[in-house]
Amino acid sequence: MINARTDCRCCRSKNLNEVFRLGDQPFANAFLRSEQLSELELKAPLIIMECSDCSMAQLSHIVDPTVLYREYSFVTGSSQWMTSHFAELLRTNIRDFVPRGGLVVEIGSNDGSALLSIKREGIRCIGVDPATNLAAIANDRGVTTLCDFFSEKLATAITTGVGQADLIVACNVLGHIDDLDDFCLGVKKLLAANGRLVVEVPYVRWLVSNNECDTIYHEHLSYFSVGAFVHLFHRFGLQIEKVESQAVHGGTIRVTAKHGTENASSVQPWIVEEKLDWTRFRTHCETMRLQLLAWLIREKKEGHVIWGYGAPAKGTVLLNYCGIESDLIPVVVDSTPSKQGKFVPGTHQPILNPEEVLKQMPSACLVLAWNHYQEIERKESAYKQAGGKLRTPFVTLFPTPNNNRTS
Ligand code: TYD
Repeated sequence: MINARTDCRCCRSKNLNEVFRLGDQPFANAFLRSEQLSELELKAPLIIMECSDCSMAQLSHIVDPTVLYREYSFVTGSSQWMTSHFAELLRTNIRDFVPRGGLVVEIGSNDGSALLSIKREGIRCIGVDPATNLAAIANDRGVTTLCDFFSEKLATAITTGVGQADLIVACNVLGHIDDLDDFCLGVKKLLAANGRLVVEVPYVRWLVSNNECDTIYHEHLSYFSVGAFVHLFHRFGLQIEKVESQAVHGGTIRVTAKHGTENASSVQPWIVEEKLDWTRFRTHCETMRLQLLAWLIREKKEGHVIWGYGAPAKGTVLLNYCGIESDLIPVVVDSTPSKQGKFVPGTHQPILNPEEVLKQMPSACLVLAWNHYQEIERKESAYKQAGGKLRTPFVTLFPTPNNNRTS
């Protein structure tokens, strides 16, 4: 169920070095029901290894996806902002690369929200998503969606059934895939001669420079650099045409590739900048952990009560990495109905409705969903006016939350 990976997923080198360790952690999205609190929780090592040949960063251990994705709750359609971001991506690339009657395939198409917008314009499209609940929603909405993991085998089936694709899109998908060779073999089969592959992934350079240790969890197997993509794609005869930065999920890169072996000259400057200082990252994260614990202990001694605000996956990671249990933060609130009434994995805080903040007036809330800080601050203006305080985990290192995080 938990396997160690000892070679680089992108260039197959064995030169992997440990750069950061968060310890044994529960699965960040496995929120617990009350009857599960007394059961033994599954945990796995959360350790980042860096490849010294291509600067790819990846987890040392892989958890069986069937355990991790039993219930996948993130629905694109529930985020208006994300839906329009993906719709824009599709529209621009269709304009540039998809001829009349051409085919678009989206890998990790979720509930079909993005494809729905182009289907309405008469474009042929197919979604691929392994989550049964999401594929069912998409198919109900009329977006043909294959409920499966993308692979060479599936690519062959699509090609045989409806032909090759002029545009293949995979956003926030590659970080979840262990066998990237199979993914690339599938792309090679499915992509038409003049077609384009467009992928978006969180960018490891910004993870490191912004000290985003809470975005490391078992579902995110890989943390990509542009250099890693160059090595991966080259092995399969794919060349990079363009790399762009996007302000999604704490800083994302969009990589456009096509058949061939010559990367665009604009790619090299990205690689030159990829000197990742993991030692500085480690020092900052350890300092944040100590300062956060010191603050919570000080507040508790003074009789103040601190709650957590938001129960994102990154909140689970932070609470478990810092060892913050119910004695220091007794309650976490979150607006997601399916999380309310459950408990944070590992540290076991009960998750309540955010309405309780104004009712019970904790002295301060530690905003665990700090990529949504501005929105939460707006919603909690009455709490703040009544004397409540909002803090972020990185408050001592970064006085204001990092504004380029907008997922
Ligand atoms: P998300 O941004 O998806 O982070 P991750 O990928 O780390 O899980 O999760 C944000 C969480 O914050 C989600 O559970 C909903 C919650 N939230 C609130 O409780 N109140 C709010 O006002 C907002 C914007 C989010």
